[in-house]
Amino acid sequence: MAKIVLGPASVELGKKVAQELGADAISVEAKSFPDGESYIRIVDDISGERVIVAQSTYSPQDKHLMQLLLLLDAARDLKASEIIAVVPYFAYSRQDKRFRLGEAVSVETVVKLIEAAGADSFVTVDVHTEKILNLFKIRAMNVSAMATIGKYFSRFKLKEPYVLAPDEGSVDRARTVAGQLAAEYSFFQKQRDRVTGTIKTEARDVDIKDRDVVIVDDIISTGLTIANVASILREQGARTIYVACTHPLLLPGAKEKIFAAGASEIVGTDCIQSDVSRISVASVIAESLRKIM
Ligand code: R5P
Repeated sequence: MAKIVLGPASVELGKKVAQELGADAISVEAKSFPDGESYIRIVDDISGERVIVAQSTYSPQDKHLMQLLLLLDAARDLKASEIIAVVPYFAYSRQDKRFRLGEAVSVETVVKLIEAAGADSFVTVDVHTEKILNLFKIRAMNVSAMATIGKYFSRFKLKEPYVLAPDEGSVDRARTVAGQLAAEYSFFQKQRDRVTGTIKTEARDVDIKDRDVVIVDDIISTGLTIANVASILREQGARTIYVACTHPLLLPGAKEKIFAAGASEIVGTDCIQSDVSRISVASVIAESLRKIM
């Protein structure tokens, strides 16, 4: 059985995954030097061990990414026999192409760094687009939290539930959640201005009058995407609007924007530790790890 190294960004989730797998959890000593550089120490002996490094890369992304790289490289240097990087939130995954001349394709850089640091396999959750996995030369897997999110809402007594994705990229996610709720689903169209960041949402004709709607997305960052959708749904007469995402980045003001647009609840997973992270992805991660160990 593997040992799970608890990266500073995923201590609680890493412990839950260890529990699910019946694996040992290994602590990490992490601190910042006075000038801001990261210090990392894997506290137990991992020589000859198969090691899972659990470290999400939410905000502060660059700090958490650097900690991940230090952990992977230290694990290799400390002679772990195999290293599996579990990165529940994969930062930089939205910059997966050159949208404007001269831009860095950031996710390509991050993939190269993870491989160079020593990972033998890579596991993430609801990656922005699965195409990214093809950039890896090592084994790379994506697991989805959407069925778990669907199960969370199945405990509610939803009235004629309807699941909506804010853009076409999330329609498969909406389908999975809808499957758990025996609900209908659809998506809106979204356009983002690459320079100003403003978002235009084009509504489709959806029959949601007096029904409970669950909006699902992979990431909530500024909250603009979801707030646009929620206000359209409210105008169209939705009864209650619930919001769910895998990665609640939730920048300052995001929740307020979404509630002001008419949502009653925002829920996310523990891919990111936040005050809305009421759904755990520990089981789905553990299940995927069992398949490759
Ligand atoms: C982008 O396509 C993603 O799926 C999310 O919709 C987006 O990241 C949400 O960002 P924000 O909350 O800033 O609108």
